[in-house]
Amino acid sequence: MAVLGIESSAHTFGAGVVERGGILSNSKIMYKIRSEGMVPMKVADFHVRNARKVIEDAISKAGIDSGDIEAVGYTKGPGLGPCLRIGQISAKTIARRLGVPLFPVNHCIGHIEITRQSFGMEDPLVLYVSGGNSQILALDEHPFRHFKVYGETLDIGIGNMLDNFARAAGLVPAWGSKVAEVAGGGGYLQMPYTVKGMDFAFTGILTHAIKMLETANLKDVAYSLQETAFGMVCEATERALMLSGKAELLACGGVAQSSRLKEMLGIIAESHGARFAAAPNEFNADNGAMIAVVAEKALRSGSRQEPPIINQKSRPDTVRITW
Ligand code: FE2
Repeated sequence: MAVLGIESSAHTFGAGVVERGGILSNSKIMYKIRSEGMVPMKVADFHVRNARKVIEDAISKAGIDSGDIEAVGYTKGPGLGPCLRIGQISAKTIARRLGVPLFPVNHCIGHIEITRQSFGMEDPLVLYVSGGNSQILALDEHPFRHFKVYGETLDIGIGNMLDNFARAAGLVPAWGSKVAEVAGGGGYLQMPYTVKGMDFAFTGILTHAIKMLETANLKDVAYSLQETAFGMVCEATERALMLSGKAELLACGGVAQSSRLKEMLGIIAESHGARFAAAPNEFNADNGAMIAVVAEKALRSGSRQEPPIINQKSRPDTVRITW
């Protein structure tokens, strides 16, 4: 018996199937972001057109029949409302037709749990860095078992900041990976650095870097921006690692695909005797399998079903971890 997971929080519509923790399939399609950025209604229309095809592909690749599905999970948030709604409606429709339980899943917990499971990590400090989110978390038992937020961005996600810079610099595609490519061989220029305890902020450095493009060369600005922003999250992560005393460090989310960030985190982990792992890129990118993983854990641990809501601002630290 298998569990189907559906992800639609932003540009990706994904569907994945898991069985006893094993990933049977992970199908997805991604909206091509144009110069206007992500217009939620346009992305939602794209999801509407592709939902059925992606879900059928995931079920077929998993080698199961729809009758083998014993629960359905979907991303309840955080994310773009119109996009979340398409995944929710798809999941509700399937769960009702099959007469199986429906589990709303927090997107961040999805990234964390599929990675934690992949590397067999028991109790890691997690750096979750993506377009919309940047948080440092770890399991905490009080007042209930949940992922406590040790530190987080005070304004925008680090991925959002890098994408915004890429767009302002006219890079195509306007993504953080393109900033990393351009940054190769750049020289260091002074940048604003905002770390407050274990929190950090990115709008100041973004504004400064865009302004610097008027006088400095793109390579140097891109290099300095990336080094400084990664340095900020690494400083906060190292502080949280020391404070929490965790013996494992895990990185996940879209920005955790950066080899430079992984290199920095690896050095920090090693210097504190902690084991470090970063999610494989398939799971750092948005995907349905991670939603299925959490839905299956909730199902097997006897979680009570939540109302089938969406919540654009759903926070991981409000989720009760029942496994
Ligand atoms: Fe994500």
